[in-house]
Amino acid sequence: MKSYRSVFFANSFLLIKNIFQQQQSSYTTNKMVNAKKFIFAKRFDGLPKVTDFRLEEEVLEELKDGEVLLEAIYLSVDPYMRPYSEKYPTGITMIGSQIAKVIESKNSAYPKDALVCGYLGWRTHTIFNPNEVSGDDAIKTYILPSFGGLPPSLGLGQLGMPGNTAYFGFLDICKPKEGEVVVVSGAAGAVGNLVGQIGKIKGCKVIGIAGSDDKCTWLTSELGFDHAINYKTESVAEVLKKYAPDGVDCYFDNVGGAISSIVINQMRDFGRISVCGSISSYNTPVAEWPKVPILQPTFVFKQLKMEGFIVSRFCSKWFEAIQCMKKWTDEGKLKYRETVTNGFENMPQALIDMLQGQNTGKAIVKV
Ligand SMILES: NC(=O)c1ccc[n+]([C@@H]2O[C@H](COP(=O)([O-])OP(=O)(O)OC[C@H]3O[C@@H](n4cnc5c(N)ncnc54)[C@H](OP(=O)(O)O)[C@@H]3O)[C@@H](O)[C@H]2O)c1
Repeated sequence: MKSYRSVFFANSFLLIKNIFQQQQSSYTTNKMVNAKKFIFAKRFDGLPKVTDFRLEEEVLEELKDGEVLLEAIYLSVDPYMRPYSEKYPTGITMIGSQIAKVIESKNSAYPKDALVCGYLGWRTHTIFNPNEVSGDDAIKTYILPSFGGLPPSLGLGQLGMPGNTAYFGFLDICKPKEGEVVVVSGAAGAVGNLVGQIGKIKGCKVIGIAGSDDKCTWLTSELGFDHAINYKTESVAEVLKKYAPDGVDCYFDNVGGAISSIVINQMRDFGRISVCGSISSYNTPVAEWPKVPILQPTFVFKQLKMEGFIVSRFCSKWFEAIQCMKKWTDEGKLKYRETVTNGFENMPQALIDMLQGQNTGKAIVKV
């Protein structure tokens, strides 16, 4: 007959063995991760539709030496996704960046639990090999610098690509001086709101152009813009003349089209125009683009300068800009706002919403 003590030990042994076996089997399943990804399934015709994307599952196999397994936490929703995906064949994983966590690592430079900002596409899980990244691609996927107490999602916004777009595109190209008049279109979006706030840090008079009264109120009452114009309900030409009677020194152009022609015609001598994007045309076929007014006389007589840019041009100073934007954020000089959509499955809708102006500040998706 077994004593109580030996039965207890035998049961304990079985329990420990069971736990060990369960741990082993969940470890085995972890190694075969089911990733979800969105495929760019159908070419866009005008505004993208949810049915232009297809949700697929994919089993990720065991890591090889040098590789890491990343799990998405936040995904970015950006206007470039609309025009850039046109360059790719259908069937690819939809393009985009995310903040992800290293959940398994065979690369000591990317330890487990590290946070990564990565151009990894619309995927929940990714096997990534940092050793295969070189040159300019180093700013596409990197370990997130320390943000102190600030949310890591800012790595997709003001402490990441959109922040650097505002920083370099405005400071390097517009070269704003204290007391000058700055106009920014797309002003309540990820890039635009930062351009205006940097303009205020530099001592400029800042006028934002945005698509709703709520956005305009946010710009003036919370971010310190001097004025905001709702281009959907007000005459930009008339209101701009009132707010900038002597003309505009710097124009940061996020939208292109008619709004930009109006602003450019109200520039002051030696004004500078930074062309960041032209979202007003992204959903319109080239054949249907509006016939814009002739701007050359304005450029000649007012001796204006206009320059387009792609933010990757500034990759050698990427982390310097993030440090500066973080310092301004820590000091309360730069505020941030995010429009968060919950659920990876809602990526397509979040993109469609952003293209229609449903976001204020940075549009992101929380997995
Ligand atoms: N050059 C670069 O390297 C670079 C890098 C990043 C971004 N960009 C460009 O910068 C611009 C802003 O990007 P973001 O990430 O900050 O996006 P965002 O401004 O956060 O979101 C897009 C905004 O565009 C506005 N919009 C949509 N259709 C419009 C139209 N027909 N006319 C005027 N405004 C319209 C909407 O706001 P409203 O409610 O105000 O209409 C919408 O919220 C885009 O053109 C993007 O392509 C360029």
